Amino acid sequence: MTQSPDASLLTASPWWRPDPGTSLVIQGGCRLTGAYPISGAKNAVLPLMVSALVTPHLVTLHNVPSSLDVAVLANLLQRLGCVLNWSSGRGGLSLTVCADHVHPARIDRDLVVRMRASVLLLGAVLARCGEACLPLPGGDAIGSRGIDFHIAGLRAMGAEIEAGGGMIQARAPNGLHGAEIAFPHVSVGATENLMLAAVLAEGTTTIRNAAREPEIADLAQCLIAMGAAIEGLDTHVLTIHGNRPLTGAVHAVMPDRIELGTMACAAAVTGGELLLENGRRHLLGAAETLLLKAGVALEDVADGVIARRPSGRLNGIMVETQPYPGFATDLQAPVMAMLAVARGRSVITETIFEQRFRHVEELRKMGADITVDGRVASITGVDQLRGARVTATDVRAAAALVLAGLAAEGETVLDGLDHLDRGYDRMAEKLEACGAHIVRSIV
Ligand code: EPU
Repeated sequence: MTQSPDASLLTASPWWRPDPGTSLVIQGGCRLTGAYPISGAKNAVLPLMVSALVTPHLVTLHNVPSSLDVAVLANLLQRLGCVLNWSSGRGGLSLTVCADHVHPARIDRDLVVRMRASVLLLGAVLARCGEACLPLPGGDAIGSRGIDFHIAGLRAMGAEIEAGGGMIQARAPNGLHGAEIAFPHVSVGATENLMLAAVLAEGTTTIRNAAREPEIADLAQCLIAMGAAIEGLDTHVLTIHGNRPLTGAVHAVMPDRIELGTMACAAAVTGGELLLENGRRHLLGAAETLLLKAGVALEDVADGVIARRPSGRLNGIMVETQPYPGFATDLQAPVMAMLAVARGRSVITETIFEQRFRHVEELRKMGADITVDGRVASITGVDQLRGARVTATDVRAAAALVLAGLAAEGETVLDGLDHLDRGYDRMAEKLEACGAHIVRSIV
């Protein structure tokens, strides 16, 4: 008997609670106060889970966020032959992965199309097994999002790769070898994919124009804990000396800097004050300065960051998304929701993904005054947003619409919750604990 995707997700991640057909109903106008725990980072935990494939020994991850993407990847790892063990404690979820037997068999399309990060399996499975076969990955509809850098890098390391008919077939019967790789543009996923492959390749790999997002260093730290030799952390040149004997590792996933920035905006937009537990200001990169300019006060304290709006309205600002340490594209939508009620005009230029303004139409339904010309959005702050029925089109659009709903007058109904659940660990529950009137319901 074939299992439904929800049933197989539950087998791989028993904490996952499928919630089909529900919407989020938000009564706006509540001031958020109290402690909001920042979870482990979505974009760190996914490559970290894949890293378990490069060693036959146990890899334990702490501070794992309970998100749909994690459940999907857990299921993919199971299909590859990994044995997963979950536990939960004070520090949240922990996952131990045993990948002593990896079967590089074809991975079903139903899961891969749900998540672009599934492409990260390519480098690790290919390096470990000498072959890999993967449907072309899916993910958010936010732009073309090629995987040419991933493929070119693996080919430079000796892989034979054919992509066609919606599939990628990769072979390296004699193993991978180190290579000099230079990316034309910074790519987070390609840097991670090649790093994972390079730890098992013979010889040294150099990745130039590598991404230096904090999630890259988090992955490198876990690989180093297994015994990998990686130099150049937090720089644009990574050097990986491959084929070292690898052991297992125990690693705590870094805090989610996107959730941190998003919830700082939530505190500000509701005129409230939140202690964003486990956060640190420096993780925000350029967003820290821009949020301060907009009038969001941020203070590092012993157990996190306090975010608040000291007084009056927020100010309009100019934002351009850039690779880290520039302003993160993943914060673009939530910050736009905040700027929709700031004083004066703001301009946001999206340089990373060409279709990442799909939330604009939804924000407009709530009364926002935003126009888009290509990659540039101009926002004229309004005094008040009003509740409306809106739909999330991607993970960060979902967060932006939650923020807009919190700030708005009246009731907002948010559909498309799969997007919110893909990237955030219990956001509605955590907001409710801080005073938000927010419930999941079938409406
Ligand atoms: N690109 C190519 N060819 C490639 C790879 C990338 O042209 O082979 C282009 C992309 O089309 C894009 C740009 O390079 O225009 C940057 O893409 P990147 O590879 O850096 O993005 P990614 O690895 O697919 C990760 C995050 C995204 C985040 C971006 C940028 C994960 C799982 N995803 O995506 O997160 O926006 O880096 O920081 O880490 C999200 O969390 O909502 C999200 C989309």
